[in-house]
Amino acid sequence: MTGLPVRPEFEGRSPYGAPQVPAAHRLNTNENPYPLPDALLADLGAALGAAALDLNRYPDRDAVALRTDLAAFLSRSGTAVTPAQVWAANGSNEILQQLSQLFAGAGRTALGFTPSYSMHPLITAATGGTFVDGHRRADFTIDPEAAVAQVRELRPDVVFVTSPNNPTGTAVDLATVTALYEATEGVVVVDEAYAEFARPGTPSALTLLAGRPRLVVSRTMSKAFGMAGLRLGYLAADPAVVDALQLVRLPYHLSSLTQAAARTALAHTEALLATVDAVTHERDRIVAAMPGLGLTSVPSDANFVLFGGFADAPAVWQALLDRGVLVRDVGLPGWLRVTAGTPAETDAFLTALGEAVDQVG
Ligand SMILES: Cc1ncc(COP(=O)(O)O)c(C=O)c1O
Repeated sequence: MTGLPVRPEFEGRSPYGAPQVPAAHRLNTNENPYPLPDALLADLGAALGAAALDLNRYPDRDAVALRTDLAAFLSRSGTAVTPAQVWAANGSNEILQQLSQLFAGAGRTALGFTPSYSMHPLITAATGGTFVDGHRRADFTIDPEAAVAQVRELRPDVVFVTSPNNPTGTAVDLATVTALYEATEGVVVVDEAYAEFARPGTPSALTLLAGRPRLVVSRTMSKAFGMAGLRLGYLAADPAVVDALQLVRLPYHLSSLTQAAARTALAHTEALLATVDAVTHERDRIVAAMPGLGLTSVPSDANFVLFGGFADAPAVWQALLDRGVLVRDVGLPGWLRVTAGTPAETDAFLTALGEAVDQVG
């Protein structure tokens, strides 16, 4: 492929890459469009300035203060989480990579229910493991019986469950998570990158952690917190998982600037998460508009909507881009994914979509 002696498992693979093309409305990477609150920006300046004074020293390798703040944040949900149960890294991608280094790897297998987050297969391969596609129903939900049967047959070392799922948007019910957990001797990783956007009455897998030492819940500050540029992801699990992860984490992986910025952001949790209601309102507006355009969508617990019914989704993607609206073609025939953002972005998207449907048919 490249003429380089690259490991064979990378033959024919493409790197992760949402196109970073210029567009008036960038609705393709599920970011939060709202600017950070002024008070947070001021505090960030002070906190980063203070942290800079110590940049001649390595950061706290164990990120204890940050993990304490993250545990306090998670505990607000009603499920008590201790700092010893929490681990943090540079984005939840690094969390997933560390988990894969520890539990997947050469000679091991990870199962994920595709379509799902495209980095799960890539990270599994990058850490030397084999990724196997799990089954989903035609409506993109997971059939618990079929999934359990597949787990029993395959005996994977890692089972990825993305809830709410990306790119389809729907949360996975906890009965399915527990059924998978009971069917496997491996680790079940519930990737909850979008958990804060879930519709009311959608419990987190955090509520399942007690008594399940092979269950891991992964979260991020990139989405609801609106801090994608910060690169801060974290997990909650049994303290033994956190201890074992120390074997694979690079020393001082989380810079003191990242730790300081994340702690400052967490001190502004109320203000940051205040945008969640606005975003989910726009998500629901997008869903509600689809039938009027002759289109359909998948129920969403996230800050995006998978919408479709297209004969030629790539042509609609291009027609939207021609009108300044960048959405994501996730490679599912007939479907596209749009990030929910501000009311103005929804207006622009729906107007462009109406025109694109008329143009492409
Ligand atoms: C399901 C899911 N998990 C994890 C991530 C990684 O997010 P980050 O590394 O920014 O925390 C994403 C990003 O889009 C995602 O969609």
